[in-house]
Amino acid sequence: MRVLVTGGAGYIGATAVDILIAQGYEVSVFDDCSTGHADNVASGVTFVQGSLLNRSEIAEALKGCDAVMHFAGKSLVGESVEKPELYWSVNVGGTRNLLDEMRAAKISKLIFSSSAATYGEPEVLPILETASNRPTNAYGATKLAVDAMITDEARGHGLSAASLRYFNVAGAHKSTRGWLRERHDPETHLIPNVLRSSTSKTVKIFGTDWPTKDGTCIRDYVHVVDLIDAHIKALNSLGSAGHEIFNLGSGGGYSVREVIAAATQATGSQIPFIDSPRRAGDPAVLIADISKAKRILGWQPTRNLEVMVSDTLASFE
Ligand SMILES: NC(=O)c1ccc[n+]([C@@H]2O[C@H](COP(=O)([O-])OP(=O)(O)OC[C@H]3O[C@@H](n4cnc5c(N)ncnc54)[C@H](O)[C@@H]3O)[C@@H](O)[C@H]2O)c1
Repeated sequence: MRVLVTGGAGYIGATAVDILIAQGYEVSVFDDCSTGHADNVASGVTFVQGSLLNRSEIAEALKGCDAVMHFAGKSLVGESVEKPELYWSVNVGGTRNLLDEMRAAKISKLIFSSSAATYGEPEVLPILETASNRPTNAYGATKLAVDAMITDEARGHGLSAASLRYFNVAGAHKSTRGWLRERHDPETHLIPNVLRSSTSKTVKIFGTDWPTKDGTCIRDYVHVVDLIDAHIKALNSLGSAGHEIFNLGSGGGYSVREVIAAATQATGSQIPFIDSPRRAGDPAVLIADISKAKRILGWQPTRNLEVMVSDTLASFE
């Protein structure tokens, strides 16, 4: 089976490419390298450098493919608030182009990178796939819109798809070419920022008076290798037309102070941090209910916070 990995030059997509190849899949990559890196794409992989906004470039990338893992998109919450048009254009318009070209090419299997940002502030914890969707920013709104578009495509045109709603993805993957890791600029994710914290660039803890065990926010982290395992299981689960949504996290959470403690342990020196006021729009706790992915996909994440931190640290070297 040949899989087109859109966003295959990015953090999660590049990891998917490597693991798919190791498992015997043929892979093509489509990426405009706007936030990804061409050197993430292994030599020998069919690579079309192009944009989701250009339908002929998508058509070129889809040649010979049987399925698509769609990671490409814009994913910075703050940027999505400042430039909503970019998010609606790339995430929604770009995915519309992809679906149209997939239909033209008679490719009917799709795995989509959705996000826990679709849920917004949860009413009930842990968060089930059936929870209400109330995104608090354009990023989450566009992921939700794409999920709706995929549901309609499945109903109307026989697409067989799964949307995977990631919580916080972390860790790194050691490929035969070295570590594949987060190379976002700006980096907004806690674990790499904590590990890079220094007295001149000190990590901030936003809020120390949340109703949590140590007063800091709690988030659910999933290792990127476990995440890709779920993608491959989801791909293999696709049957006749339909669209399923699965949460991907660990089913548990770590506070910001626990992440800092794990990083202090891994580096052997105290991570500098500053206690700061709460940030507007941050929920206190976000934890996934992952029982649907466990039950239907037979998936079980196996790498804990210590592994996510130690792999990220090793990937910096
Ligand atoms: N990292 C996380 O914790 C997380 C959480 C939830 C969801 N996601 C989703 O997972 C996917 C991958 O995230 P990531 O962390 O690897 O991000 P990333 O920025 O490293 O990867 C995204 C890739 O998409 C490419 N891209 C962007 N716009 C494009 C366009 N118009 N045409 C073609 N390619 C384009 C970028 O160049 C990049 O390589 C995204 O869709 C993101 O929204 C990530």
